[in-house]
Amino acid sequence: MTVEDPAAGRVPAHVPADRVLTWVPETNPDMAKDPWAAYEKLREVAPGVFWSPEAGNGRGAWFATSYELCREVLQQHTRFTTTMDFAPGINNAWPRRLIPLELDPPDHQRYRSLLTPMFAPAAIERLDAGILATATELIDNVIGDGHCEFMSQFASLLPSTVFIQLLGLDPTERDRCTGWVETFLRRGTAEERQQVGIDIQELLVGHIEAKRADPGPDLVSQLTLARLDGEPIEDEYIQDMCFLLFLAGLDTVGSGLGHIFRYLGEHEERRRELRAQPERIPEAIEELLRWNSFVNVSRTVRVDTELGGVPMKKGEHVHVVLLLADRDRSVFAIPQDVDFAREDSPHLAFSAGVHRCVGSHLARRELRVAIEQWLRRVPDFHLPAGTQIRYSPYAHFTIEHLPLEWSARR
Ligand code: HEM
Repeated sequence: MTVEDPAAGRVPAHVPADRVLTWVPETNPDMAKDPWAAYEKLREVAPGVFWSPEAGNGRGAWFATSYELCREVLQQHTRFTTTMDFAPGINNAWPRRLIPLELDPPDHQRYRSLLTPMFAPAAIERLDAGILATATELIDNVIGDGHCEFMSQFASLLPSTVFIQLLGLDPTERDRCTGWVETFLRRGTAEERQQVGIDIQELLVGHIEAKRADPGPDLVSQLTLARLDGEPIEDEYIQDMCFLLFLAGLDTVGSGLGHIFRYLGEHEERRRELRAQPERIPEAIEELLRWNSFVNVSRTVRVDTELGGVPMKKGEHVHVVLLLADRDRSVFAIPQDVDFAREDSPHLAFSAGVHRCVGSHLARRELRVAIEQWLRRVPDFHLPAGTQIRYSPYAHFTIEHLPLEWSARR
């Protein structure tokens, strides 16, 4: 474990000495092997909340590690904000705020209420046929081979195809969009990320213009037709919403698919269970999202405050460690076990409070269709013996490569 001596780095005077622990997830070698196990060790040495002087590029940052404190940070937007120095990487590559994520109420609510109906269950139902057709085609592409690299051949392609349809973009843009998000969230240098910001903006400018001239049933057209306080929404704000959707909607579902298919690929009895009772797939999804809660969420302290009895100063950064919150035994009985029948599971995989994921119904739908189709058509998929999984720990924890194999039927 890499929990080092906190001698180096800045420890502000108000931080109690027993709350200091050096923890830099980005450079911790254990994170690539198993982020859950790496973080789990912190629960004992730093329960509740701690300050890491080296985190945040050496500026120092708080980490909230219990369910109760994570939820408090997420729900208390008057004390913890997404608007102050929220994500410098993202801000540097995009000229404005991501809407609605980087807005506080009441502005947040004004813009979010535009998106809410577009992602409501009834609206998502209209995407069903496209989700099913895409999942079917992607499985068709690999089923005869008896193996695939699941992340690149399925997990990244299903959400990006659905997303392209949702925004009404040309289907030929899919691979470019997938590549951009990959560069932006994981592999890119600062310059490459900046270029991606410019490329996406260019694409969106043309697309919004085209949809204003000739609207269709897609989300961008709906935004061009929508009114806010009686006025049309300016193109720049539509771009800011669409850019957030790029980042929030593509890679998250891909990562979720990776974690779920890894688990199912390693647990034959669970695949059998869900094949026999496909109606239990939704509860399996909730449990696996809890068990592998994978999105990194953070806030900035908005006013001097305290959390769990620890003083915090305005402007300090707080990492909300959802993966620990969702395995907190004070909320979830035997949290390290995957229990599809777990009742009353208030997991935070989609966050909580005003910024709770607006795309959760779409995400669940994509995950469900993917699991149903794989279990129906490729029931014996599994990981090849000796597979070593590596995670990339950036905007969220993603499996880098997930080889799957099965007995091929031609
Ligand atoms: C399994 C897949 C997904 C997971 C685990 C997930 C998780 C999250 C989390 C944790 C947040 C809150 C961030 C915060 O509190 O700072 C969030 C917000 C958001 N998500 Fe998702 N997400 C998923 C899929 C999607 C999809 C498919 C879309 C849309 C296409 C989407 C759109 C958004 C948006 C727009 C926000 C910001 C909401 C706001 O600020 O009000 N997400 N998501």
